[in-house]
Amino acid sequence: MEANDSHVGEGSTSTEGTDAAGSGSEGGDAENRVEGEFPAPFAEGLAPTPPMGWNSWNNFGCNTSAEQIKSVADAMVASGMADVGYQYINIDDCWNEAVREENGGPNPTTAFPAGIEDVANHVHGLGLKLGIYSDRGAETCARRHGSRGFVDVDVQAYAAWGVDYLKYDNCDYINPDTFEHNLDETLMRDEYTLMSEALRSVDRGIVFSVCAWRFYEWAAPLGQLWRTTGDITDTWASIVANIGTNSGLGQAAYAGPNQWNDPDMLEVGRTGMTDTEYRAHFSMWAIMAAPLIAGNDVRSMTDATKAILTNAEVIAVDQDALGLQGVEIQQDGESGSERSVWVKPLNEHGARAVAFLNLGPEATEIAVDVTKLALQDTEVIVRDLWAHEDLASVRGTVAAQVPSHGVVMLKVVGEEPPIPRGEMDVSDLTWVYSANRLGPVELDSAVGGGGASDGMPITIGGTVFDKGLGVAAPSLIVYRLGANCSRFTAEVGVDGQAATGGSVEFEVWGDNTRLHDGAVLAGSTMAERIDVDVTGVYRLKLKVTNGLNGNARDFSSWGHPRLVCAD
Ligand code: GLA
Repeated sequence: MEANDSHVGEGSTSTEGTDAAGSGSEGGDAENRVEGEFPAPFAEGLAPTPPMGWNSWNNFGCNTSAEQIKSVADAMVASGMADVGYQYINIDDCWNEAVREENGGPNPTTAFPAGIEDVANHVHGLGLKLGIYSDRGAETCARRHGSRGFVDVDVQAYAAWGVDYLKYDNCDYINPDTFEHNLDETLMRDEYTLMSEALRSVDRGIVFSVCAWRFYEWAAPLGQLWRTTGDITDTWASIVANIGTNSGLGQAAYAGPNQWNDPDMLEVGRTGMTDTEYRAHFSMWAIMAAPLIAGNDVRSMTDATKAILTNAEVIAVDQDALGLQGVEIQQDGESGSERSVWVKPLNEHGARAVAFLNLGPEATEIAVDVTKLALQDTEVIVRDLWAHEDLASVRGTVAAQVPSHGVVMLKVVGEEPPIPRGEMDVSDLTWVYSANRLGPVELDSAVGGGGASDGMPITIGGTVFDKGLGVAAPSLIVYRLGANCSRFTAEVGVDGQAATGGSVEFEVWGDNTRLHDGAVLAGSTMAERIDVDVTGVYRLKLKVTNGLNGNARDFSSWGHPRLVCAD
């Protein structure tokens, strides 16, 4: 370790080394800054950043009522949670009876004596929004009436009541005793689509939370968020499992404004875990740009719980305007005791949120090279987002002592990779971000398996490319162009490695605008040519989708991607 390495984290913060204010903060490479590169928050749509709020299920289950929901809403304001961004007050299952009103309308239970509109009025009066729950089947999971056959009736009622958010569940009992459901994918897709269209047809913005218990590619365009996991529980094992499920399969590539992977509601403050574990849970949800839907009784939470849920610096990571879902970039340690490093680029020059996660039974040091954060090898400023303090600036390596079942969450600010100049092979550039279903994105070769550099030469439709990017869909790679380039070209397709399998779609985005809308390509077809104008683009996003649906052969290659840029 170098002498000026910083050792930070719970109980082990060190501020030795170069003084942050002395050099790092004013330093940096002024030439490498580009005006306008970091956008003002994207404001369009119902969920430009991940939704924040509260939901009744984790703590209260079916034991919910109008009085309870109103008093929780009051507490959201009184506790300061509303001030830091929590907005939705969501009633989960059991607000309604098993049987509808005689006229077919939705039928609230007697625990909601003045109906849902009365609750909505109270919630709106506090400046908050109201969420409700239903199910695509005839019955909800708790066997109350679902929306099957009554989608329009229900949506009309929700809109009339002033509902702002709908969580739509997936129960469709074949046998309620064994919790066996009809999960026919075509049926599910049709029923979620029906509700999505109905919500879009009313004159009220209602966030659609698809709760289909795992990621389905078809769900992403239907709503603003979609559950990627089974039900969370108030245990460390559940947190670890959901982090894995929410990050596996490359579905981070689908995250962005109005499009969020949902690893389920928060368990922070429900007493089954230690505060260290809850800080880790909250940190990981934030770095994954997950919805932050609290699940505790906010009327009676401890100061420690409140401090976790209202940590504005960690919330800012979750709500960052770039909307990228942080990914794991490094992992070691024995199975079950892994130590990992996660990174999420932030909407500020050279800024990265970094989480060091320790699953092991002992405290341990975790370290990462600054260059692995897609930053140049210069001095970086490090801030501890739980200690709320700037630490020593460091060069080379950022390191911290991380407690067992804990996270050290940092903001690291350094120097962005240089913007491209002249004519460039994209595979010679440093990306700012990459997410990939299988192993790392490969430079100048195809993806082989889960390891690095394990692929064959890039081959599309029989043509071999010596330069390019090998990915496994879904995948997203983000490059910094700094509005300095004019043209992006590539030959793309399913890689020969997939043989006749595979089915993928290549997309090119300039910031939040889609520039290339490719056809769905199958294995062994000829390369598709991409040639797009990227004038004025700050961030080039190379995305490949359609990689799930049980298809393990979505090896996809960007053959000879090139940029034409100013000198
Ligand atoms: C399912 C959902 C949960 C919750 C319950 C309610 O299990 O996944 O989040 O809504 O139903 O019954």
